[in-house]
Amino acid sequence: SARPRVLSGIQPTGDSMQLGNYLGAVKNWVTMQDGYDAYYCVVDLHAITLDPPEPAALRERTRIVAAQLIAAGLDPDRCALFVQSHLPEHPQLSWVLECLTGFGEANRMTQFKDKSARGGADRQGVGLFTYPILQAADILLYQADYVPVGEDQRQHLELTRTLAQRFNSRYGQTFTVPDAYIPKAAAKILDLQDPSAKMSKSRPDAGTIYLADDAATISKKLKRAVTDLDGEIRFDEAHKPGVSNLIAIHAAFTGLSIEAVEAEFAGQGYGRLKGAVAESVIAFAQPFAARTAELLDDPAELDRLLAHGAAKAAAVASVTLSRAYEAVGF
Ligand code: ADP
Ligand code: NA
Repeated sequence: SARPRVLSGIQPTGDSMQLGNYLGAVKNWVTMQDGYDAYYCVVDLHAITLDPPEPAALRERTRIVAAQLIAAGLDPDRCALFVQSHLPEHPQLSWVLECLTGFGEANRMTQFKDKSARGGADRQGVGLFTYPILQAADILLYQADYVPVGEDQRQHLELTRTLAQRFNSRYGQTFTVPDAYIPKAAAKILDLQDPSAKMSKSRPDAGTIYLADDAATISKKLKRAVTDLDGEIRFDEAHKPGVSNLIAIHAAFTGLSIEAVEAEFAGQGYGRLKGAVAESVIAFAQPFAARTAELLDDPAELDRLLAHGAAKAAAVASVTLSRAYEAVGF
């Protein structure tokens, strides 16, 4: 295919995607299915690096995320949607890349430092340390040209590029050196209770809207969203992060521009804005939840779709792995 290739992944942490995952990442993945040769991966191997969930919970979360990705608009016929653990090539390539990574180089990864500090460094396994190397394997196996990532992933992508270049110069041209793809319109959604932080599955529930939340819960969380005291509906991320976040969410779900939302609510109170945001989120979340439930209610069909995705992924990954192993001398 002449279309540029993209690879991106999402961890099956938590029991549902949150709004920021959708507006900041997945919505773009859906758009990119057509202009790009797109590979999207539920990275379950990564989900046991920090506080491993119960096996049954991990298995269930992986299926929920996969179903939610399809409900969000990923079409298993227009992209390759697969589960990382279904492809043995990921850890197989990761081993080779681990042997190319300097200890100090891996040790400079700031996300490892943050996460190990949070979880108690002595309780964490070596997998948390080598996580960015497995991530490099995830990307390089597919010869991805672009990797749509958030700002938080820039350092890991830099390591991926370094490892690709190092492998190519030591063993001969094997891997495409990927570029970060930061979409122009990628929304960064903030925590509703603490607009100085990004919304995340790993933050308290009150500030996070899960796409699986029911209508009443969504309304309640938005009604209680932290705003400010000046009472003006205006987009100003530096001085009015809470209100700007609400405007951005409303704009994203209605397809209106930020300016159009500002104009629509000029002179009105925050209560009106919050009510309208709740309506636009619920209008998305309700059919989304229904479609997700439908997919989860038919396990055989979901298995079939994921096997189809794994086969598409394997067609590329196995070729890359053979070339890399051959180059190394295996
Ligand atoms: P979480 O913090 O919810 O666990 P993940 O680490 O699973 O998120 O990230 C999955 C994708 O969602 C990544 O591409 C990430 O950049 C994006 N993402 C996560 N939270 C937000 C947010 N609040 N705003 C925008 N994008 C986000
Ligand atoms: Na996370």
